[in-house]
Amino acid sequence: MAKVLISGEIFADAVGRLLAADHDVTHQTERSPMPRDDLLEEIRKTDALISMASDRIDAELLGQAPELQIVANVAVGYENIDTKAARKRSIAVTHTPDVLTETTADLTIALLLALARKIPGGDRDVRRGAFEGWALMQPWMGFDAYGKTLGILGMGRIGKAVARRGHHGFGMKVLYHNRNRDLPAERELGAVHVSLDRLLQESDFVCVHVPFTPSTFHLLGAVEFRRMKRTAYLINVARGPVIDEQALVDALEAETIAGAGLDVYENEPSVHPGLIALEDRTVLLPHIGSATEETRRAMANMAVDNVLAALSGREPPNLVPVA
Ligand code: GLV
Repeated sequence: MAKVLISGEIFADAVGRLLAADHDVTHQTERSPMPRDDLLEEIRKTDALISMASDRIDAELLGQAPELQIVANVAVGYENIDTKAARKRSIAVTHTPDVLTETTADLTIALLLALARKIPGGDRDVRRGAFEGWALMQPWMGFDAYGKTLGILGMGRIGKAVARRGHHGFGMKVLYHNRNRDLPAERELGAVHVSLDRLLQESDFVCVHVPFTPSTFHLLGAVEFRRMKRTAYLINVARGPVIDEQALVDALEAETIAGAGLDVYENEPSVHPGLIALEDRTVLLPHIGSATEETRRAMANMAVDNVLAALSGREPPNLVPVA
């Protein structure tokens, strides 16, 4: 019997699988993220941790975990974990790739369409009784998505799933910027590998899908926004710190770009008040990229699979890539 700590609420059936394997489970269901002091205390006697994207799993914490064998993050991103410190202590780190790809790509398109077709503003008007009937020149006139140029920054699993939707669903021309070329995507989608500058200059929709690493911190700031078209929209469902949020507010206020759809923020859970004030140019979501019942359940079960493997001496199936 091993001690498993789950630092945030997950589905009962996933917890049940750990109990069925006779593990002793501490399931934090109330406050998320788990208060740091509680986490530091609990981790001392924990063999396996199921962590949330909002937990900071750093060297200090790992240093106080003599029994810890695995950190199973319930997220595809794992910048919240000091993977080098974990490796030094032979602690496995896993994440939840693939199961959330299509769900997150769907949300990217939802933001893209919400911006282009001004859905939140139209909805607000109908609710407050301001709909005055159809008119050719009516308010909330949008911008076609069909046939436009889609810029994918980071052609990984999610970037490619968005590119597929853009190309097959909306007849879009796909530009992408990535460290490496993706020849299958070029063949399937006619995607063109371009420099960051060209992607910014030519895209009508710029979608961010890079992970947050030291090299992607503030990848997009004032200089990059000035390169974009004034009619272009920026969409970020990846990680907040990839965008310089103050520079984005400045660019939106100056109408350097047309709008932004965001699911992630630089200092979550706080959101820059400038983004909130710009009601008609921003669509703001509470980090729900993977938040469907099916996908969140699959993520929880994947974390449990990883823990069960590690605790029975097998290699966990979803180890994070070695940097
Ligand atoms: C959530 O943001 C994730 O990385 O899965």
